[in-house]
Amino acid sequence: MALLFASAGYSYAQEPLITNIGNRTSFNLNGVWKYVVDPYQTGYYDYRREVRDEQTNPSNSESLFLGYKAQDPSERVEYDFDKADNILVPRDWNSQKEKLFYYEGSVWYYKTFDYELKANNRQFIYFGAANYEADVYLNGKKLGKHIGGFTPFNFEITGKLNAKGNFIIVKVDNTRGIEKVPTINTDWWNYGGLTRDVKIIEVAGTFIRDYYIQLSDNDPNNIEVSVILNGDEKANQTVTIEIPEANINAKCTTDSEGKAKTSIAAKNLNLWSPENPCLYEVKLIHNNNILTDKIGFRTIQTQGKEILLNGKPVFLRGICIHEENGVRGGRAYSREDANMLLGWAKELGCNFVRLAHYPHNENMTRIADELGLMVWSEVPVYWTIQWKNEETFTNAHNQLTDMITRDKNRASVIIWSMANETPVSADRTDFLMKMIATTRQLDPVRLVSAALERHTKTGTTNTHVIEDPLQEYVDIIAFNQYIGWYDGLPEKCKTAEFEIKFNKPVLVSEFGGDALQGKHGSKDARWTEEFQEDLYKETLKMLDKIPQLRGVTPWILADFRSPRRVLPDIQDGWNRKGLISETGDKKKAFFVLQDYYKVKKAEYDPKQK
Ligand code: GCU
Repeated sequence: MALLFASAGYSYAQEPLITNIGNRTSFNLNGVWKYVVDPYQTGYYDYRREVRDEQTNPSNSESLFLGYKAQDPSERVEYDFDKADNILVPRDWNSQKEKLFYYEGSVWYYKTFDYELKANNRQFIYFGAANYEADVYLNGKKLGKHIGGFTPFNFEITGKLNAKGNFIIVKVDNTRGIEKVPTINTDWWNYGGLTRDVKIIEVAGTFIRDYYIQLSDNDPNNIEVSVILNGDEKANQTVTIEIPEANINAKCTTDSEGKAKTSIAAKNLNLWSPENPCLYEVKLIHNNNILTDKIGFRTIQTQGKEILLNGKPVFLRGICIHEENGVRGGRAYSREDANMLLGWAKELGCNFVRLAHYPHNENMTRIADELGLMVWSEVPVYWTIQWKNEETFTNAHNQLTDMITRDKNRASVIIWSMANETPVSADRTDFLMKMIATTRQLDPVRLVSAALERHTKTGTTNTHVIEDPLQEYVDIIAFNQYIGWYDGLPEKCKTAEFEIKFNKPVLVSEFGGDALQGKHGSKDARWTEEFQEDLYKETLKMLDKIPQLRGVTPWILADFRSPRRVLPDIQDGWNRKGLISETGDKKKAFFVLQDYYKVKKAEYDPKQK
């Protein structure tokens, strides 16, 4: 499995990612932090726009990353974190502080802590995510920078900790930019901050940094294992893999680079599926250090227009989800948030969720494993990014690799998505082809796709085609369509036809329309529940006519915040295409889809056959 051996040689000075953080010894830095809003980045740049943390003697008075305190009354220091306001981590700042609701820019985070040092161990500081750009300092020293708002990162801090009075400072900047990923224009709220867990990970001198344990592509009787050790004593080491419930106890030996791989014969495994989300306890043992994980085993493949899970055809009864808890407000981050969102999806009758448009927090994919929901995971290559910009590509590629690295052992994740609604051009297709190549190299098992766009066939008014060369290279042809909302009225669905020439599974990755929950009227009146209900009925009938249709993920589970949605008394900053309002109340269309999924479930249930 090449993934494990991919070098992280990016220009972002980011260390190789440590995975399975939740099952490692850790010191939690979540909770109350101090923050300073710095719209002019005065704490980072001096008045000549020089980067202060690159200066030999950065000024104590303004360099916020130093966390400096005046030593005597005459000293001029123009910040004081101790007197600053409190803020919670993990959380975005927009939903916590009224004055930061619309804020885009830099915020300095500060936290002090004591740390019980253990001899011979190593320590890493780990961030689940920080939107968008994070500069990280420990005790006034720079650890590094991370770019990308939805993937984890870690820095080694061994030897940099004191027993008492440590302080961590992070400058988080969520300023949008044309060259960034996502780019300057999206249809979701640009929540800023330390949006996910912050922890110190305590590991042995040489430890298991990462591993890949999955059924080899499409052979339910063979488990592929690769392990990578990090540390001075990584060569020629024995690593034991134990799966007690499957009577498996296998050993492998690392090479000079600390890498080992093996294949384990595994008969009669209880395969993971939405109907049977079986997870095995897996132990990885090195030098009496045991790292455990919960892993499901399943095969996933396409055959002609069929999607086969464990060799059986499935229909992806899905829904799109944004990583937001509309009820509390702000980015979703916790197990409770994930249980709420994925619980609603289960209630809908889903066996699949499209986590849009960026990698969601790890609680989402782990709870999808537990609840039995297959997952589409996507990088925020959204709409029109700078295809020819090398930095933009490196950034997107970095987010892709980290997304796959973090979740490659999740049985729930079946599809890696490269992009959403990107305009067809040679540069764009070249960009996405390179992303696909990396994905296949890193993970030869899972399916690859992207949310493409449909077009009205030239010379017709209601025949629809996908004019995109990428169809050739993806495993599942997925496209977004809004006939009846952005294109005509629901009536138009009645006569619409789709011409899709590929003998591949088709997933309609978005459809839907806005409705304000509780607003009722005739089905011809936009923004009413009745209009949305009718749109769902007509759309599902229309899509069922596509012979290759093997799944749908309507847009979207719940209303979500978007600065692009300004219609008073209806949107007021919310995209209202949810089937559930931000207060958690279901709309009529929710039940249309629930009924449709009951029928689909019976249709694909082998027991009915
Ligand atoms: C687009 C897009 C979504 C957006 C949705 C909408 O297709 O992919 O991010 O929110 O349509 O317009 O509501």
